[in-house]
Amino acid sequence: MTPFQPRHLLTLQSLTRAEIERIFSICEDLKAKYLAGTREPLLPGRVMALVFEKPSLRTRVSFETTMAHLGGSSIFLGEDAGFGKREAVPDFVRVLSAYVDVIVFRGKRHAVLEEMAQYATCPVINGLTDQSHPCQALADLFTMKELAGKLNGHTLAWVGDANNVARSLAEGCAKLGMRFVMATPPGYRFDEEFLPRLKTENPAFDFDVTDDAAHAVRDALAVYTDVWASMGQESEAEQRRRDFAAYQVNAALMSHTQKGAVFMHCLPAKRGEEVTDEVIDGPQSVVVQQAANRMHLQKAILAWLLGSHGI
Ligand code: CP
Ligand code: NVA
Repeated sequence: MTPFQPRHLLTLQSLTRAEIERIFSICEDLKAKYLAGTREPLLPGRVMALVFEKPSLRTRVSFETTMAHLGGSSIFLGEDAGFGKREAVPDFVRVLSAYVDVIVFRGKRHAVLEEMAQYATCPVINGLTDQSHPCQALADLFTMKELAGKLNGHTLAWVGDANNVARSLAEGCAKLGMRFVMATPPGYRFDEEFLPRLKTENPAFDFDVTDDAAHAVRDALAVYTDVWASMGQESEAEQRRRDFAAYQVNAALMSHTQKGAVFMHCLPAKRGEEVTDEVIDGPQSVVVQQAANRMHLQKAILAWLLGSHGI
């Protein structure tokens, strides 16, 4: 007998356009019900484990509240669980997935997430690694769709480091027909393998990279930035502050955007570095809507992976 192969969510590469659209439609339905006061218990008795090697506010709380709304429960496993230290990853994961229905992993190395998925007998969801942050990107794409009605034909301008969030957004844009323009200094752009693979898998993907931030944001529906030094890159922070100084999203840069353009950030932000107070607190900013949609979108992912809305 072939052993049961659970469906994981490690990157957006593994989802088809139709699957993303299905998740968005579940999200829209469950968000409307939530806002009308209904929390449908779609996953009674189900248990989610969160294995986190890095700090978190949004990812942890949005997943935990989501599971509570769905009638299930969650267990947070931080430092004291000894993940990666007390025992081998396969042993940890085989045992954990015998207890729980789904694992959310926030890890230092993407390769460890892939190892977990290889041994888990329940679905594993990426809650951020050094390489990708698919739940963030899905929530952000959903937010842009809410704002603009559609994504196809619109432009997302990324200003800053080609990091985990940028990679997942680029994968999402490639799947959903959104143009992706990056203003990123040389030396901090996507690695040599990533883009050719994305273009091979999505031949119509419209991508551009420039060192001119004003040019990048000109036709954008959304201007998106993130910290210049991600978690794990703290020792490079000073060098990066110098290298990214010309890539700050401030009022002068936002003055080059078209009418209706919004400002996005996954948060947490380093105010005064990649973004100024006037922009993040200004009328174009949708950062709180983005963060709130993490909860609705992840509820849709759980309903899709585990429940009656399922695959
Ligand atoms: N955006 C995001 O993932 O935030 P946390 O690091 O607080 O989870
Ligand atoms: N790029 C950031 C995202 C945090 C949500 C980091 O990895 O630290």
